[in-house]
Amino acid sequence: MSSDNRIFVCSVSDLAPGSMKLVEREEGNITVYNVEGSFYATDDRCSHGLASLCQGEIVGDEIECPMHFGSFRIATGEPVQSPCSMPIRTWPVVVEGDQVFLAV
Ligand code: FES
Repeated sequence: MSSDNRIFVCSVSDLAPGSMKLVEREEGNITVYNVEGSFYATDDRCSHGLASLCQGEIVGDEIECPMHFGSFRIATGEPVQSPCSMPIRTWPVVVEGDQVFLAV
């Protein structure tokens, strides 16, 4: 079952396709995504500025930053749309039954 380095995020049914959930941590917030039924997680903070990606918008398989509308590929964290040029960190997501966990 869950080990010490897992954080319970929510139930699968609480994170519908196309939606996001913020996980707040002292070490830095993480956004968890459901992209067409697959779960991913990235650092919440945009690499371009002080913006929360969880406040942005999922467009296809990308997250669009709400500040200057740059974007990243959710699965890999790679920058896709300018002005974003630095990748964001991705995190493993584990789904067990109806529960979604972050592995940190
Ligand atoms: S802060 Fe995200 S694109 Fe500028």
